[in-house]
Amino acid sequence: MNSRGRFITLEGGEGAGKSTLLKGLHDHLLQRGVTLLQVREPGGTALGEAIRSIVLDPSHPDISAESELLLMFAARAQLVRERILPALTAGQWVLCDRYVDASYAYQGAGRGQPQERIAELERWACAGLKADLTLLLDLPVSTGRARAAGRGAADRIETEADAFFERVRQAYRERAEAEPQRFHVIDASQSPDNVLQAAIAAVDHVFEANS
Ligand code: TMP
Repeated sequence: MNSRGRFITLEGGEGAGKSTLLKGLHDHLLQRGVTLLQVREPGGTALGEAIRSIVLDPSHPDISAESELLLMFAARAQLVRERILPALTAGQWVLCDRYVDASYAYQGAGRGQPQERIAELERWACAGLKADLTLLLDLPVSTGRARAAGRGAADRIETEADAFFERVRQAYRERAEAEPQRFHVIDASQSPDNVLQAAIAAVDHVFEANS
């Protein structure tokens, strides 16, 4: 077994079923004997959680696209250094609820921030850390929003219009097409169990390739 742990990220739009899938994947990896760290973005550290509460708070409608992008990367830079890299170095696997692809999709395609600027921030803030596998839960925007509608108050980003989330979805799909060796796209309109089985197949493939 490779002594460095594996880094798996999970991406998708609103209502795609990330939380349900995370629980199932977490249990599956533990059953396989993997020592696992599960974290979320933005968040996962004291600084990151503080940034999350600011950046998702609907009472800050005036946060600029530039500030939003930098806040996402500030949270990420801390998470990578404080938790993810030490865990991977210790041989643990890391399951991360969103990572840098979210910045390309939301702040890039959604808010119109230039891709090159995000790429530069990625080079600087992420210490060269790339995901070994990215699971993308893909779902039509209308289906995802209908699922998410019953969940209580929308956060600052969830209050965006459908067109914003269409751009986000398109950007994720384009990134998946550009890097098919890293991405595994899962049709999130399937039942939660089928989504989990598809994710397990992809994860086991990575697991076996590194055994
Ligand atoms: P979630 O926990 O439901 O995924 O919420 C996180 C929100 O933050 C979601 O709307 C996506 C957004 N986000 C960005 O806009 N850019 C980022 O880089 C990250 C990690 C998340």
